[in-house]
Amino acid sequence: MADILKWTADLSIGIELIDDQHRRIVDHINRLNEARETLDKKAVGGVLAGLSEYTVSHFGFEEAAMKAARFAGLAQHRRGHERFARQLAEFGHRYALGEEVAGEVLDTLNKWLLNHIKREDHEYMDVVKAALSPQQLAQILADLAPGPAAALG
Ligand SMILES: [Fe+2]
Ligand SMILES: [Fe+2]
Repeated sequence: MADILKWTADLSIGIELIDDQHRRIVDHINRLNEARETLDKKAVGGVLAGLSEYTVSHFGFEEAAMKAARFAGLAQHRRGHERFARQLAEFGHRYALGEEVAGEVLDTLNKWLLNHIKREDHEYMDVVKAALSPQQLAQILADLAPGPAAALG
């Protein structure tokens, strides 16, 4: 089945660990699309839950990295994450009530999440890259475990 989303160079922020996480989010989106096309409701629920958990963990990691790098735009960036996390929780809630939400989730992810990576995530990349080595970033990720960020491994 064809992927609806392809990883493209404009999504890369040049920080390996974070690009890997963004790639995994793109994978989740493609898996959600597959589950929707096969009309497998159970699979949609599973992928939706995995996607939400992974994305929220990713947000937590990014915020920890921005904080460690003393990025001035952290508060504003966090508000964007929180808004989107609320939307994901709302989709999960509506799915649990039996609503068909996969199409809407995919639309929202396509619009919001990809724009977020291309714009907001690109705003912190230089500051984070200059302030933190790949080893320091890996340590920040390790320190977040065994909380929800363990899902990012
Ligand atoms: Fe991100
Ligand atoms: Fe972000």
